[in-house]
Amino acid sequence: MAVSSAPGKVYLFGEHAVVYGEPAVPCAIERRATVSVEERSDDRLRVDARDLTLDGFTVEYGGDSAGGDGENSPEVSVRQSLLEAATGYVDGAIGQARDATDTPDAGFDVAIESDIPLGAGLGSSAAVVVATIDAAVRELGTEIGPRDLAERAYEVEYDVQDGQASRADTFCSATGGAVRVEGSRCNPIAAPNLPFVIGYDGTSGDTGELVGGVRELRETYGFAASTTEAIGDLVREGERALEAEDLNALGELMDFDHGLLSALGVSARSLDAMVWAARDAGALGAKLTGAGGGGCIVALDESDETVRALGHTPQCIEAFRAELDAEGLRAEE
Ligand code: PMV
Repeated sequence: MAVSSAPGKVYLFGEHAVVYGEPAVPCAIERRATVSVEERSDDRLRVDARDLTLDGFTVEYGGDSAGGDGENSPEVSVRQSLLEAATGYVDGAIGQARDATDTPDAGFDVAIESDIPLGAGLGSSAAVVVATIDAAVRELGTEIGPRDLAERAYEVEYDVQDGQASRADTFCSATGGAVRVEGSRCNPIAAPNLPFVIGYDGTSGDTGELVGGVRELRETYGFAASTTEAIGDLVREGERALEAEDLNALGELMDFDHGLLSALGVSARSLDAMVWAARDAGALGAKLTGAGGGGCIVALDESDETVRALGHTPQCIEAFRAELDAEGLRAEE
């Protein structure tokens, strides 16, 4: 058996604008998906998932099929589309491992454990895909480098998400730390220890719909296009603050970024409530992370005040500290 784990991420800056070629800075966080893979004697694939903030599920299917059958339909409390995506991600990851090792008929038992909320802007699917490809490839006695792995994981996300995926989540999960993404160029960048606090509203936004909404706004109003350009300028300023290890400036820029994302229509009442609870508690800055519409916010606070305040915010169902994770993919076994 081979076991690999990979981290989730937050966007420090730049989501949505990255779709239009602006740079973005995602950062890996200390919350992981752990995937165990064991080769089977047949060509089937059995997937057992726990703790994906759903009730857990098991599906078994032939190596070539793209999902579970009706009888095995899992008991879950999340949107069906998310669940189909979850099986699609594992299926795609196994396809990439088979391709990388030239073993099209290899079958596997896959067990997933994750403490990253699903579909909430924390890169849960990327972490699962990165860890699954790595564990399956190692189970077959091979290894692939982090860039190849990240690119294969991106291809899986691109397929499952119908082309609506940037390389941010998969590259960040594979390499860890802070990353600069601009188009197809992804590079690790230096960053100080970042005291992230995350608030989760228990829901998820629809990335495709939210990206579509921003696209429409940009087509209708010139100033919406200027807003995504302004986010790009803000990201470049943020890179300088990271280099200077200036947490106060980073916080201020996070607040600014949230304002611009709100102007683009991708925030939500629950996200705004959590952002303001964090700011009122003394966080250096706070913003939504990921596509928006619901899901998570990220704040910067070294003290325990933001976690405490979010704990008393009705719109927040979970608040936790998750510092920058300098380590990306990790072979556990
Ligand atoms: O919600 P997430 O973590 O998948 O982030 C989506 C970020 C977008 O910029 C809106 C889209 C993308 O693929 O970059």
